[in-house]
Amino acid sequence: MRRSGSKRLLRVPVLLLGAGGVGGALLRQIVSGRHSCARRNGCRFEVVAVADRRGAWVNPAGLSDAELLDAVAAKGRGEPIDPARRAGRAASPGESPVELLERVASEVDRPGILVDVTAAEGLEPVLDRALELGWGVALANKKALAGPWATARRYFGEPRVRHESTVGGGQPVIATLRYLVDTNDPIRRMEGQLSGTLGFLCARLEAGALFSAAVNEAVARGYTEPDPREDLGGRDVLRKALILGRMAGWPMESADVEVEPLFPAELARLGVGEFLAALPSLDGAMAARVAAARDEGKILRYLARVEEGRGSVGLVPIPAASPLAGLKYVSFRTGRYDDEPLLIGGKGAGVEMTAAGVLGDLLGLVREHL
Ligand SMILES: NC(=O)c1ccc[n+]([C@@H]2O[C@H](COP(=O)([O-])OP(=O)(O)OC[C@H]3O[C@@H](n4cnc5c(N)ncnc54)[C@H](OP(=O)(O)O)[C@@H]3O)[C@@H](O)[C@H]2O)c1
Repeated sequence: MRRSGSKRLLRVPVLLLGAGGVGGALLRQIVSGRHSCARRNGCRFEVVAVADRRGAWVNPAGLSDAELLDAVAAKGRGEPIDPARRAGRAASPGESPVELLERVASEVDRPGILVDVTAAEGLEPVLDRALELGWGVALANKKALAGPWATARRYFGEPRVRHESTVGGGQPVIATLRYLVDTNDPIRRMEGQLSGTLGFLCARLEAGALFSAAVNEAVARGYTEPDPREDLGGRDVLRKALILGRMAGWPMESADVEVEPLFPAELARLGVGEFLAALPSLDGAMAARVAAARDEGKILRYLARVEEGRGSVGLVPIPAASPLAGLKYVSFRTGRYDDEPLLIGGKGAGVEMTAAGVLGDLLGLVREHL
């Protein structure tokens, strides 16, 4: 364990996979939080590598704060993270994430933390290698936790894997569920609006917008993935429902969750432009659903529900006064919270809150495991 000078700071190596919106915000928060991290937690995060899809910027002694901010600025301009590649010089070797981790781990003198803030599939080998090496793992990327239970189960039983920002966008949803499970409060039902994008869409429908117009507005505001079907298909919400259910103790598979996509299967085959052009064909049916809900004094919300190892994800009419009508609420009904559920809600969207959730995971790992 290397501690610096008279302040005896614990220096914790961090390898960051992903330098997009969340990764950039995390780097800024690490830099701006140096003083409070040292004072409150006695530690300093040494970012020893930052990787994007085209390479990595590596310094086993820790990249300086100026370099980290330079990396964020470069990504903001759409440039690669690897400074050699940016300068048009020979780029860093085309390493796999496992090779990058092993290279870095061999050059630092204590286990660090691997952070996955990509949206990539197939990163399980690097997560597994990090755990074998005694490192902690912090995830905003849901994919490894929401894959088949046979591969995902090892992450749910491993306290060195933290993932606060995978559900609730940084609000303490995962921490709350962990507390409920740890204190042996049986989980009966969890429900919530788990997608800011679909929450926006529902709010626009409620305000009278046509479905096609609401989707186009969400696309124009940058709230959706480049292909809005990634959001409208409900797959991301399904992943969050699986994570909640699995944490609650149910070995759920995606087949245990019924998902209602907001477009029919025939539109799945179109290009993005064709899909957007075809959206008005869905306006009439959606307007009828909004009107039917309104006639009952209700509004439509895209809800995830998990109960007894089964889940559902889709549009549900709920009373306008329900707490679930607000954006980003998660409700836990448990053995103790039986007649009145425990509610977690707040702004819960955006890269700053998400990055703060990851930073909280890093601090939790330092306090408890490293
Ligand atoms: N944005 C939010 O508010 C939010 C909220 C909760 C959770 N999340 C989750 O957080 C993750 C990141 O979101 P984001 O909004 O930051 O995404 P983003 O802006 O698209 O950034 C993703 C980053 O990951 C990099 N990347 C992709 N595959 C990689 C790989 N195999 N190895 C190394 N780097 C790789 C990308 O590299 P390039 O730059 O080269 O493309 C990019 O820098 C996602 O899993 C998302 O679901 C986001």
